[in-house]
Amino acid sequence: MYAIIGGSGLAKLSALQHTRRQVMRTPYGEPSGALTYGELGSREVVFLARHGYGHTIAPHEINYRANIWALKQIGVQGVFAVATVGGVRLELGPGTLVVPDQIIDYTHSRKSTFFEGADARVTHIDFTLPYSARLREMLLAAARAAGEPVVDGATYACTQGPRLETAAEIERIARDGGDIVGMTGMPEAALAREAGLEYAALGVVVNHAAGRGASQKEIKLEDLESVMKQTVTRAVRILEQALRSAA
Ligand code: HPA
Repeated sequence: MYAIIGGSGLAKLSALQHTRRQVMRTPYGEPSGALTYGELGSREVVFLARHGYGHTIAPHEINYRANIWALKQIGVQGVFAVATVGGVRLELGPGTLVVPDQIIDYTHSRKSTFFEGADARVTHIDFTLPYSARLREMLLAAARAAGEPVVDGATYACTQGPRLETAAEIERIARDGGDIVGMTGMPEAALAREAGLEYAALGVVVNHAAGRGASQKEIKLEDLESVMKQTVTRAVRILEQALRSAA
């Protein structure tokens, strides 16, 4: 079974034919909300709203470990994560969909590993390619089939938030090689790898990052809502198609 973790603009998957909800407890505490089972693209999927169903959990307060643990616990094989992002590269403007292939992590003070504690062996995971090649290809093939343009490959820079970045911070991220910027990609992707879950992300660009393009002087948060709605609808279409063709 596949899971979809929905971000801002995707707190409810209205295309999902709900069957049941499951409240989970984990050794790491409670996930962002109940797991919602349903059907999408004629397949059973489980949906989890990363920020909670009422969008009340800020990026730095999300219990990423509980979310990933809960999905692992119920036997999920792969996770499709939807995340709104800012475009660092000018051509990645509002309304662009991106399937990133790399990550730079600028977050701090988040619980970012399952491998800790007095009785845990020191464990390292390989994270050279942070996203599952197979799930990325599923998304790209689905986008082609659905006729939805997506950008194949980008470096996702994950910042701590909840504030947006300064123009200088975005300049630095650009120099580092970041293409898009968001606040929730990490430690989610790393925890999925630690848990042995395949994981890929679909980035929904809702604004030019600070100091870039239309965001020279400020990021007008009130402008983001409508772009988010339209673009998330397209993201859901891609997910539906990906699940329809899933093996
Ligand atoms: N920065 C960080 N996270 C974001 C942005 C941004 O510009 N837009 C949407 N999520």
